[in-house]
Amino acid sequence: MPHPLEELRDSALRDIAETQDEQALENLRVRYLGRSGSISAWGEQMKTLGKEERPVVGKLLHEARNAVTAALAQTSERLRAAKEAGALAGLDVSLPGTAYEAGALHPLTQMLDRAIQIFRRMGFALAEGPDLETEWHCFDALNTAPDHPARNEQDTFYLADGRLLRTHTSTVQIRTMETAAPPLRVIAPGAAYRRDEVDATHSAQFHQIEGLYVDEDVSVADLKGTLEFFLRELFGEDTAVRFRPHYFPFTEPSFEIDVKSKALKGGEQWIEVCGCGMVHPAVFEEVNRARSDLAFDPEKWTGFAFGLGMDRLALILFDIPDLRLFAQNDLRFLRQFA
Ligand code: DAH
Repeated sequence: MPHPLEELRDSALRDIAETQDEQALENLRVRYLGRSGSISAWGEQMKTLGKEERPVVGKLLHEARNAVTAALAQTSERLRAAKEAGALAGLDVSLPGTAYEAGALHPLTQMLDRAIQIFRRMGFALAEGPDLETEWHCFDALNTAPDHPARNEQDTFYLADGRLLRTHTSTVQIRTMETAAPPLRVIAPGAAYRRDEVDATHSAQFHQIEGLYVDEDVSVADLKGTLEFFLRELFGEDTAVRFRPHYFPFTEPSFEIDVKSKALKGGEQWIEVCGCGMVHPAVFEEVNRARSDLAFDPEKWTGFAFGLGMDRLALILFDIPDLRLFAQNDLRFLRQFA
């Protein structure tokens, strides 16, 4: 005759095998193995048993607990699998999925990223400043006289409060030097604004990468080497680079750079890409005055700066005929660069 504990075990196993949901299964666990469950009760009862019966019951109790625990785990897994199968029922994996339209970077952004990457390899860090600027950051601090034509209302967008939309990213030179001390090596990509008549090669908003390098003994040779390397990385080894003397208030001497490369549209034509020069001591002095220190002592530090017009570069590099395409958001145009 089976021991009552064996009968209890078998009835527990039958109940568990028939269970169809998780809550019922939990109820069974409590009923048999819970603190006051019927199998647990046998544990309590052990104390009252005689010497001979105790090991027999102990063994049966151990077996019953193990068997019921295993059955609970097995059934729990069976219920979980069934639930999952239910959720997937009726799913036709051969149906076409939802197509995602992958976006892509704007050609100008691609151009900026390429340029930034090259400068980063030369150790330039990224700097930034606001598009809405003070006159001081845009002109005065950059040694630009009050009567300089660039400050003209016909050329610059002024706000009623006297601020303006920066006409070049050179403002970031000043922003950087206000808060950091030399040696410095930064580039600042960003937008600039001028009241230009909009046509195929002019826009009221355009993009530049400004550069500033301040250290001891920086020379025109460093400026030339850095920008020639940059332009050849960008346009190819066989790119010819030409420095022409020019005038900017914030550099002395100043240059404009032209490039000519077979890789570029036109091929044999010089294209102006950059203004640059050695930072004018008056710029350092004005920054020192604003900082009230001598961090940029012109006797100790020298530097070069440059401003690259990125829209034009992108036009040449991607052989795009009209600058306005950059701002029109025409997908037929943009998709060609995806
Ligand atoms: N800011 C000038 C422009 O927009 C470009 C430029 C020229 C930037 C010389 C410089 C520089 O930093 O040194 O035309």
